[in-house]
Amino acid sequence: MRLGLLNLVIAFAGAAVWATPPEFTHKLKESVAPPRGWERHGPAPPDHIIKLRIGLPQPSFPELERHLYEVSDPDHERYGQHLSKEEVEALVAPHPESVELVSQWLAEHGFDESDLERSSAKDWVTIRVPVRVAEMMLDTTYSVWKHNDGDYLVRTTSYSVPEHLHDHIDVIQPTTMFGRFKGQKSTIHSVEDVPEQKNTVALTSTHAATAPVVDASCNTTITVRCLKQLYNAVNYTVKAAKNNSVALTGYLEQFANIQDLQSFYAEQVPAAVGTNFTVISVNGGLNNQTLAEAGAEANLDVQFAFGVSFPTPGTYYTTAGRPPFIPDIGTPTDTNEPYTDWLDFILSHPNPPLSISTSYGDDEQTVPESFARRACAGFAQLGVRGVSLMFSSGDGGVGDGEEDPALQQCFTNDGKNATKFIPGFPASCPFVTAVGGTTFVPETGIFFSGGGFSNFFKRPSYQDVAVKNFLGRLPKGIYKGLFNPAGRAIPDVAAQSNRFRIFLSGRPVLIGGTSASSPAFAGFVALLNDARLAKGLPPLGFLNPFLYTKGVSGFNDITTGNNPGCGTPGFNATQGWDAVTGLGTPNFGKLVKLVT
Ligand SMILES: *[C@@H]1O[C@H](CO)[C@@H](O)[C@H](O)[C@H]1NC(C)=O
Ligand SMILES: *[C@@H]1O[C@H](CO)[C@@H](O)[C@H](O)[C@H]1NC(C)=O
Ligand SMILES: *[C@@H]1O[C@H](CO)[C@@H](O)[C@H](O)[C@H]1NC(C)=O
Ligand SMILES: *[C@@H]1O[C@H](CO)[C@@H](O)[C@H](O)[C@H]1NC(C)=O
Ligand SMILES: *[C@@H]1O[C@H](CO)[C@@H](O)[C@H](O)[C@H]1NC(C)=O
Ligand SMILES: *[C@@H]1O[C@H](CO)[C@@H](O)[C@H](O)[C@H]1NC(C)=O
Ligand SMILES: *[C@@H]1O[C@H](CO)[C@@H](O)[C@H](O)[C@H]1NC(C)=O
Repeated sequence: MRLGLLNLVIAFAGAAVWATPPEFTHKLKESVAPPRGWERHGPAPPDHIIKLRIGLPQPSFPELERHLYEVSDPDHERYGQHLSKEEVEALVAPHPESVELVSQWLAEHGFDESDLERSSAKDWVTIRVPVRVAEMMLDTTYSVWKHNDGDYLVRTTSYSVPEHLHDHIDVIQPTTMFGRFKGQKSTIHSVEDVPEQKNTVALTSTHAATAPVVDASCNTTITVRCLKQLYNAVNYTVKAAKNNSVALTGYLEQFANIQDLQSFYAEQVPAAVGTNFTVISVNGGLNNQTLAEAGAEANLDVQFAFGVSFPTPGTYYTTAGRPPFIPDIGTPTDTNEPYTDWLDFILSHPNPPLSISTSYGDDEQTVPESFARRACAGFAQLGVRGVSLMFSSGDGGVGDGEEDPALQQCFTNDGKNATKFIPGFPASCPFVTAVGGTTFVPETGIFFSGGGFSNFFKRPSYQDVAVKNFLGRLPKGIYKGLFNPAGRAIPDVAAQSNRFRIFLSGRPVLIGGTSASSPAFAGFVALLNDARLAKGLPPLGFLNPFLYTKGVSGFNDITTGNNPGCGTPGFNATQGWDAVTGLGTPNFGKLVKLVT
């Protein structure tokens, strides 16, 4: 990076070409109110380095979306005809003029091509810049912001770009992005000591005549065997492991411990003892194997997703970086949000895993809409390539999961301070499958199951029938103004989410959250892909258009339970789709027949 005098020279040279020097015609690009809980702490250190990601518009995205819906619709002739990496990149490529104008702008600030990192499709440009340079480029002032939970971020509440670039830049972050993709804290509900199990009488699940008997212990402790019993997959034999794959994403220094996995296998999946998974590091992410460093989230994810889908080959992605800024550390750190780093990474690979679960998210309203749309467009790109993406729907019911009502953030960030239910992102992206939670046998919706309606994304047509049916049966006028009935509704599906027995740092513990249901569901999706691959069929890819049509009859409809939050009892689980458990929990035996 070359900085200093050169900037000026180029700016003057530019003045000769453009009527007004672009330097002096900045126009506001985005402005947000500081989200609740955040306070300006002080000025940002001018030398603090940030990794600025610039998103260029994807003019052909509507066409990509059309492809996505065609190849994901089981009634369409193109069902399963997923696109290649190159085809997808062509569909998200920015206009050459955008690439050129943004490059010129960066050159004016002293960056040449070797300073830039471009995504495979060239739709993202990344540069590392000191705060003082970013402030100049974006005509803004960064501050250190402090959250009342103690985290710090270097952010601003508004930024501008030269007017002639407005149509050539979608989004620049980190600027106004206050979202912190949380894992463990928000989505793992409890870690308790393992209670004794005395009851040994077998239970019969009430789901369906076809459902097998479920061990009595499953009412208090969930194991891989319980899930296979509950979801009617007991005797399924994996046939196409070689060509199949299942993966988990990990962030925030969550390490998946191999010794704990072996202890888990010894107890729950004896045939898997001695097998391993692949660790892929993104941006230098670690997977420290010191037993004490094992992450509850990471261990839960790998043990259950790999346990359910064994012997399907598993991958754990560990992505470095955490957004919170640590003001005491002299050496400035990268304060970018790591999720998009993983997206760039996986999109650059020719054969991404076929079933991927993520248990990290945040309140939708802490993520700027422009950023949410771009991340969501990234998920669409994976879907159209044949990847099924599962996300936890969140652990706050209709609220933000804060147990202390005084700290609940059921307020809008738009300056109006209106009370509103709080959906979670990325679950609210219509191109992913959001997984909510159930508990007990027979299954009932669990109180913390994240559910509701997006304020960013409108309801996708695949949800029209199911969601209109739910809305039509709500008591008249209930929660008026608290949610957006025209929004993308979550969750799509559900699975058990409480008292999962895992090994953590050498000992068994029980753990829960929609963090448990998402990897469990992803394990069953991997088995469904197995059944398809074994028959020479392509993988399922983006699931939702199938789930809401042919798939409906492959789910156990959950009709009890509700998800309180924001001082209300939340929504009720009802017959058909509902905003607590979605379409319900999988009946694998039926789903296998539906997908093959
Ligand atoms: C499972 O536990 C729940 C909650 O304690 C209870 O309501 C339910 O009856 C139990 N199920 C069976 C089959 O005993
Ligand atoms: C699974 O297979 C075993 C052995 O063949 C059989 O006894 C059992 O009934 C089967 N269970 C289910 C749920 O089909
Ligand atoms: C895996 O895919 C290859 C071709 O891509 C095919 O020849 C082979 O039969 C498949 N194996 C299984 C177990 O499905
Ligand atoms: C498992 O895989 C990891 C990462 O790929 C590797 O470092 C480790 O040695 C393997 N462990 C065993 C027991 O095979
Ligand atoms: C793993 O964590 C332990 C304990 O915190 C630390 O001592 C060790 O240096 C770490 N190992 C690596 C490879 O980072
Ligand atoms: C928003 O409203 C809540 C409850 O009505 C109140 O406690 C809070 O102070 C308000 N916040 C702002 C920024 O006005
Ligand atoms: C949930 O069910 C209860 C009991 O039937 C009812 O009083 C309440 O209005 C329902 N709430 C919603 C949001 O449907």
